[in-house]
Amino acid sequence: MKEKIRFSSKLGLIAATVGSAVGLGNIWRFPAEVQENGGAAFLLIYLACVCILGIPVMLAEFSVGRAARADAIHTFQKLTPGKPWWLIGVLGVLASFIILGFYLVVSGWTLEYLFASVSGSLFTPDEPSGSVNFGAKMQEYVQTDVRPIVFTLLMIAINAIVLWRGVKKGIEKLSNVLMPLLFLLLVIFCCVSLSLPDASKGLKYFFSPDFSKINGSVIISALGQAFFSLSLGLGVLITYASYFPGSTRLGRTAATVSLLDLMVAILMGIIIFPVVTSFGISDSESLRGGTLVFVTIPEVFTHMECTRLWSSLFFLLISVAALTSTISLGQVSVAFLQDSLHWSRRKAIVCVFLPLVPVSLACSLSQGSWNSFRILGYNLFDFLDCFATNYLLPIGALLLCVYVGWILPKNTLRDQLTNHGSICAVWAPAVSMAIKYIAPPLIFIILISNAL
Ligand code: TRP
Repeated sequence: MKEKIRFSSKLGLIAATVGSAVGLGNIWRFPAEVQENGGAAFLLIYLACVCILGIPVMLAEFSVGRAARADAIHTFQKLTPGKPWWLIGVLGVLASFIILGFYLVVSGWTLEYLFASVSGSLFTPDEPSGSVNFGAKMQEYVQTDVRPIVFTLLMIAINAIVLWRGVKKGIEKLSNVLMPLLFLLLVIFCCVSLSLPDASKGLKYFFSPDFSKINGSVIISALGQAFFSLSLGLGVLITYASYFPGSTRLGRTAATVSLLDLMVAILMGIIIFPVVTSFGISDSESLRGGTLVFVTIPEVFTHMECTRLWSSLFFLLISVAALTSTISLGQVSVAFLQDSLHWSRRKAIVCVFLPLVPVSLACSLSQGSWNSFRILGYNLFDFLDCFATNYLLPIGALLLCVYVGWILPKNTLRDQLTNHGSICAVWAPAVSMAIKYIAPPLIFIILISNAL
């Protein structure tokens, strides 16, 4: 049998996995959640969710992935042959494909804004007064038919090219360059933000907890955020872990990835909140996802010198974060076609990205002229987003925890966490307890509350 591919360095492995985790979830959703849900109180709850649920579930994915050294579906067939558990993998492959369908569209928008910032067209005044109406610009860039499609296609092409180059030369090499760049850009923006006149007020808000805002639904939303942000539940981490060398310490890797992902979210808070106080943005609508990134922030840049430079760097930052996440999602399906069906990489990539073209285009159009076409009251884009994030993701994670906690022979998890007994992992029993007893009921509660 052909030797399975491995990441060639520890740094590359961390960069690729962090690249998957750090994405629009950190930039898009986190600041809004913090603002609405009691500042640092939400941060503390989120931290607890990452430790209690995020890290154990991540270790469950890492363990099965590295134990089987296979794609998300074949992993289950190898570890428990003849049993239907491979259906968990099918769910993962399907869900990652669906998420990719709309995530590529949003990634396309970020790329579009990057181009528009570099060319300056984002800041061309469209009103007689000479001011720029960013709300109208957003409509033009996001809610029309042709423009966003062009950039979505471009994003699909970039993803296909990176995956075409393979795990080491494509994913790992790119992550090795892009992740340090992402952190550098974040630090630069932190410095800019902290030099704003009312920065301290913003930081005070971000870091002082208001526990009165915390209730059950806030905790559920923190749990959901942790899942999405850490890329759990879809087999992305199973697939990546199958490329981890045998000597990789899974516990340390999971802790590092979670910490870096959390750090990006916190740095984003340090960037956003001084802006909020300094520019007097008080309504939470201005901080919500698209509005934050495409209206509020560009508006802020116009009040600064070197508007185009800052804006270009900012959209570069977001495009980078989005790209490394879409790549990880794409690799789930590509790895499945390559490993389970023994297809060549090229054939696998064509068969994943070609069907993604109509799916993403339909998602993109559903923001434009197909917006009136509704499924259960949602347009296609929002429907897929809601369906995959609220249901498929937690169902996948729940089944995985049941599988690892209750079905898989006990020593498989132990062997993976301790590298077959060669390292001491005193925390391993706690992780195994969390996977067995804590994660399943908690995820079940998330699912129920999402359904209600
Ligand atoms: N974690 C990414 C973000 O924060 C998104 C993402 C990439 C993802 N791969 C995933 C989400 C797998 C769920 C599952 O934006």
